[in-house]
Amino acid sequence: MEELIFIIDFGGQYCHLISRRIRELKVYTEILPYDLNLETLKKYILKLKGIILSGGPSSVYEKDAPRLSNEIFSYLINNKIPILGLCYGHQLIANLVGGVVSSEQIKEFGKTKCKFKLESELFEGLKDSEIVWMSHGDQVKSLPEGYEIIAQTDSCMIAGYENKNKKIYGLQFHPEVHHTPSGKKILYNFLFKICKCQGNWEIKDWLEKSIEEIKNQVKDDGVILGLSGGVDSTVAAIILRKAIGNKLHSIFINNGLLRKNEPEEVIKTFKDELNFENFHFVNAENIFLERLKNITDPEKKREVIGYTFIEIFEREVDKLKSKYPNIKWLAQGTIYPDRVETKATSTLSSKIKSHHNVTLPKNMKLKIIEPLKDLYKDEVRKIGLELNIPKKIIERQPFPGPGLAVRCIGEVKKEYLDILREADYIIQKEIESAGLQSRLWQYFGIFLPVKTVGVMGDFRTYEYICVVRIVESVDAMTANFARIDYEILEKISTRIINEVRGFNRVLYDISNKPPSTIEFE
Ligand code: XMP
Repeated sequence: MEELIFIIDFGGQYCHLISRRIRELKVYTEILPYDLNLETLKKYILKLKGIILSGGPSSVYEKDAPRLSNEIFSYLINNKIPILGLCYGHQLIANLVGGVVSSEQIKEFGKTKCKFKLESELFEGLKDSEIVWMSHGDQVKSLPEGYEIIAQTDSCMIAGYENKNKKIYGLQFHPEVHHTPSGKKILYNFLFKICKCQGNWEIKDWLEKSIEEIKNQVKDDGVILGLSGGVDSTVAAIILRKAIGNKLHSIFINNGLLRKNEPEEVIKTFKDELNFENFHFVNAENIFLERLKNITDPEKKREVIGYTFIEIFEREVDKLKSKYPNIKWLAQGTIYPDRVETKATSTLSSKIKSHHNVTLPKNMKLKIIEPLKDLYKDEVRKIGLELNIPKKIIERQPFPGPGLAVRCIGEVKKEYLDILREADYIIQKEIESAGLQSRLWQYFGIFLPVKTVGVMGDFRTYEYICVVRIVESVDAMTANFARIDYEILEKISTRIINEVRGFNRVLYDISNKPPSTIEFE
């Protein structure tokens, strides 16, 4: 029988991390909003092995603090579903069972030593004292009868508790982060000792099942897919082709904001290397650039690019539908975090940039199919390797939907984009020839529309500035500027200034995220 762990999202930044750690242990997870209803839960009760309440920024006594309803909490206990609360989840359980939570003057952030009661199944195989990662202001002060303290730090008397009878567990610290060295072992114990999971979720099985599902769902209909040339849409395209062959029609739009040679390379890969039959290319560079004229605000740029894309895509879809009336489906390369971010967490975490992929309008009258909707990026990459997709696509660095428009600060002009493309190409090539690409998250150039003075030979120059941005990251939530050797940076700078007309100065960005962001806009 399939098995499932639910993670209830209370707005914590670590929710996806909990989910990924558990999937690494081969148990399938789903993230649900805290206000889920009992009927949803009931549908899954036979597969449900355990439930984890995530951390979150709230305080349990705040007026609008997110809560799990008493009804759901009792239902889980009555059905003997093990519950593990982490950080806010730990405080919330204490509050739900009648314990006391208090707000402390001294907040605790970072690494701290924690003493464990090794009789608890949760800590099997650990040492009696280990480092854990704390990040909290409130803490649990007392618990009713039946609850036993199983972890303590110097400043937190109840860093962990259990009610073995009711299978309820709470931890004030975060086992899901790498800074808690035995965190994975604790999650392992929860899954395999307490929830009695089997751990048989395999990405390969997922692929076979998914191809079968698409076949059954789509039958003889045609499917349209928007291709960007990136990892997600390419993997989605290959899966769909495996399932439905040439009933797949893919559309690739050049918005004029792509990197050097990118449109040509995407066309070559799909037409010549992957032999896609119904591959449709639209060159819409002029219309995008025309509409971006005089726009300097980053969010406005995203908006214009978003609706222009939809307009052009819709036009193409209409053309294809009149030629191939069997087209009934629109496929999207949406991956799991995209889906969860738009539905569940958006009310709890604040908006920084109006990110991510364009959601296509409902009036297209096509049914939506999302082959990657349950996968994380690293899982999509694994599937890609399984499907023998060329490594150069699987390993591609992330590239934002609005493309170079958000790397060309202020107004976007073709002249600026062309200059930027040349410099960006040099950055890519130099990083790749130094063999650094696999340890870097992104490496690219930014165009600053500011002119400064330089001297070349006997001549004074007065040209623009190129910023080199190179970052290391695991999931783009946080990022550090990469400490690249000066020799490599010098080579990049010399080549850009010598070879690219338009730049006479190169700067290296040494800001981390947070407080900066990876992209400039
Ligand atoms: P920031 O700049 O927010 O970027 O630190 C985090 C990651 O997201 C990418 N990014 C985008 N991707 N549409 C996208 O599809 C966007 O509007 C967008 N803005 C940023 C960015 O490249 C980085 O990997």
